[in-house]
Amino acid sequence: MFSSLSIAVVLSTVLSSVLCTPLSDQVAALRLDPTQVDRINTLSPDTQYTFDFFHPTAGIVQGVAGHTVAADTATFPAVVGNGVGMTVGFLGPCAINSPHTHPRATEINFSVNGTLRTGMLAENGARFVVNELPPGSMTVFPQGAIHFEMNTGCEVAMFVAAFNAEDPGVLQVAQRFFGLPVDIVQATLGGLGVVEVEGLADMIPDNVVAGTDECLARCGLTRPVQPNLQQQPRVSGNAFPTGTVASAPPASSPVKSAKGSKSTTGSPAHASHHA
Ligand SMILES: *[C@@H]1O[C@H](CO)[C@@H](O)[C@H](O)[C@H]1NC(C)=O
Ligand SMILES: *[C@@H]1O[C@H](CO)[C@@H](O)[C@H](O)[C@H]1NC(C)=O
Repeated sequence: MFSSLSIAVVLSTVLSSVLCTPLSDQVAALRLDPTQVDRINTLSPDTQYTFDFFHPTAGIVQGVAGHTVAADTATFPAVVGNGVGMTVGFLGPCAINSPHTHPRATEINFSVNGTLRTGMLAENGARFVVNELPPGSMTVFPQGAIHFEMNTGCEVAMFVAAFNAEDPGVLQVAQRFFGLPVDIVQATLGGLGVVEVEGLADMIPDNVVAGTDECLARCGLTRPVQPNLQQQPRVSGNAFPTGTVASAPPASSPVKSAKGSKSTTGSPAHASHHA
């Protein structure tokens, strides 16, 4: 007879061969499967069809003020071939999921237990749309539209965002814009100085970001120091000009007082993304 131990050994061998398959290999295999029936056979055991947003092992984007968890082709192979994805977010008091777009998906966004202030700006010519989303309501963000969401309450709020694509992508507007070549950013901003451009780029905090002054004051909070590791890395094509303040090593760049530094963290010279 089979001992329960040998069954356990067989099971764990099967499990570890499943669990050890690199995710990209599994996604590749699913993409080669000719039919949905084959994909269902590839996705075994059954738990491969579930994703736990409360205990994720991947897909986490963490800022000081909260975090989001994404289930898409990078984290959850079961979506391959099915054209859907989902992000669940946990926004701390006043937290903002900073302005971003999803280049390949429309989003519907459901507020579970907090009141969210949402704004949406679609293509050139479109008017600005703003809404309050109380618990139990949802809104639509058209594919490619810039949007943001802020938790206007003083407790953690949870939202569920569903996408009509399995690889919706995220493009964070501030980080992407300030990742362009400095002379292009300067000109786009009407000739703003290079030090100002670099100072502004250096201040952009990692998403999820701390919220508005009004909300922080109402909730009795002070704006925390926020890391800025999500900035676009510099290569030769978008390098800061040499000899400017921000291109110096962090230790020797104490003064980076761009416009607007008065409004924030008291830590203007954190240049960790240069590392
Ligand atoms: C969904 O909406 C909430 C609040 O309106 C917002 O914080 C969140 O960023 C939105 N989710 C996504 C993925 O855009
Ligand atoms: C909303 O739900 C999340 C997740 O369960 C929880 O962490 C948070 O405390 C809840 N907030 C409120 C206001 O109930």
